[in-house]
Amino acid sequence: MKFVFKVVSWLFAASLLVSLSACSESHEPSKSTAPEAPKTTGLTLDVYKSPTCGCCEGWVEHVEAAGFETLLHHPSDLGAIKQQYGIDSSYQSCHTAVSNNGYVFEGHIPADIMQRFLANPPADAIGLAVPGMPMGSPGMEMGDRYDDYVVMLMRKDGSAEVYQQIKGKR
Ligand code: CU
Ligand code: CU
Repeated sequence: MKFVFKVVSWLFAASLLVSLSACSESHEPSKSTAPEAPKTTGLTLDVYKSPTCGCCEGWVEHVEAAGFETLLHHPSDLGAIKQQYGIDSSYQSCHTAVSNNGYVFEGHIPADIMQRFLANPPADAIGLAVPGMPMGSPGMEMGDRYDDYVVMLMRKDGSAEVYQQIKGKR
């Protein structure tokens, strides 16, 4: 009886080992069996805006359609948020978005430009900004009006450079 018990427990231990190794094998990435990725960036944006800002809501819809998750916040002092994230007054707009991987997106930035930035962010970048509220930018659609505008790359040292120029309708 004792011997049988030993055999049974040994078999149990052996099967546990087999199942554990099988389990670790199943963690190997397998491209052929991976399900089709859903349309998501895997990123959440904390969006700081005024509760009455309509163009902000338009921009939020635009980035959500491009696969970003959003969390909306309505702080009493938006200026303090912009200061906290180092957004110089010359690059400020109506809303400030902060991605959960730590980048700042100020104003009506087109989602595809954010995705290009996020795919390869420069080492010293804090994020992007579309200063002001240009007509025709996402969330600022006004019939056939399309301003030229710039997307700025903001750096940790306070400097900025043009990341992309937008000429009229994209
Ligand atoms: Cu706006
Ligand atoms: Cu806004």
